[in-house]
Amino acid sequence: MYTSILTATENNICTITINRPDKLNAINSTVMEELGKAMDEVYNDAEIHAVIITGSGAKAFVAGADISAFHGLSVEEGKQIAKFGLDVYFKIENSPKPVVAAVNGFALGGGCELAMACHFRIASDNAKFGQPEVNLGLIPGYGGTQRLVQLVGKGRAIELMITGNMIDANTALQYGLVNYVVPQDELLNKAKSILDIVNTKAPLAVAKCIEAANAVYNESINGYDVEMNGFGNCFGTEDMKEGTAAFLEKRKASFKGR
Ligand code: COA
Repeated sequence: MYTSILTATENNICTITINRPDKLNAINSTVMEELGKAMDEVYNDAEIHAVIITGSGAKAFVAGADISAFHGLSVEEGKQIAKFGLDVYFKIENSPKPVVAAVNGFALGGGCELAMACHFRIASDNAKFGQPEVNLGLIPGYGGTQRLVQLVGKGRAIELMITGNMIDANTALQYGLVNYVVPQDELLNKAKSILDIVNTKAPLAVAKCIEAANAVYNESINGYDVEMNGFGNCFGTEDMKEGTAAFLEKRKASFKGR
């Protein structure tokens, strides 16, 4: 069904793999379109409870947007490319099901931005992060100027963006850009083991945690209101009744996502 990404669902975890290894998984319009469709599936498929996004091969997560498609484009076309990518990345960020980036190598430009649109990141020890757009006379266009500041702070973000320098996995860990650094052959298992834990929790509560955390960065809404409503609405779910009853009855809760 897809030509430039792979999807596979096992144990309610959908792994989306960007699959252009000979171009270091650079994101062209087909990849972006397919990523958007795969996220639609994530939203709609009840079997999928969580997502891992990774890259094909041992060298790159995603080495950026496909530079070969940029040369000669107009201002309007540049804006359209950014808008298209931003919309797909918002779909990832606003997914009610957790999305983890398993960063298995270069995460540059649109690749670093893809990792940052995910809810959190795990890196393999060979991973490298950067926003090298200034080398091309460009700036990040898929949310990087905003999310990098959110994740590592303004000083480090501006330094990274205006030097185009790359940082290694351990520096990314120290910056708070990634939650863990693991050997490459343990990367997917690390992501899966965390999501296996998440998948034992109440799915509607998980979704509300993500929604409220995202609200911190949305100036048009009050995050405390989102939290208050989310907390209150949990009382109307079967899962909250089950979770509290299970605690009181000293047994393990069994959640249904209702
Ligand atoms: N867009 C298009 N093609 C890309 C690409 C990108 N962002 N990143 C890598 N590729 C392609 C290369 O052109 C090369 O293709 P070829 O074999 O047909 O010539 C192939 O992927 C392998 O990359 P190569 O540069 O030979 O690997 P390397 O190990 O020498 O260098 C990088 C790796 C990541 C340092 C280097 O590829 C690079 O700087 N890529 C661009 C990163 C970037 O600027 N991203 C932001 C884009 S907005």
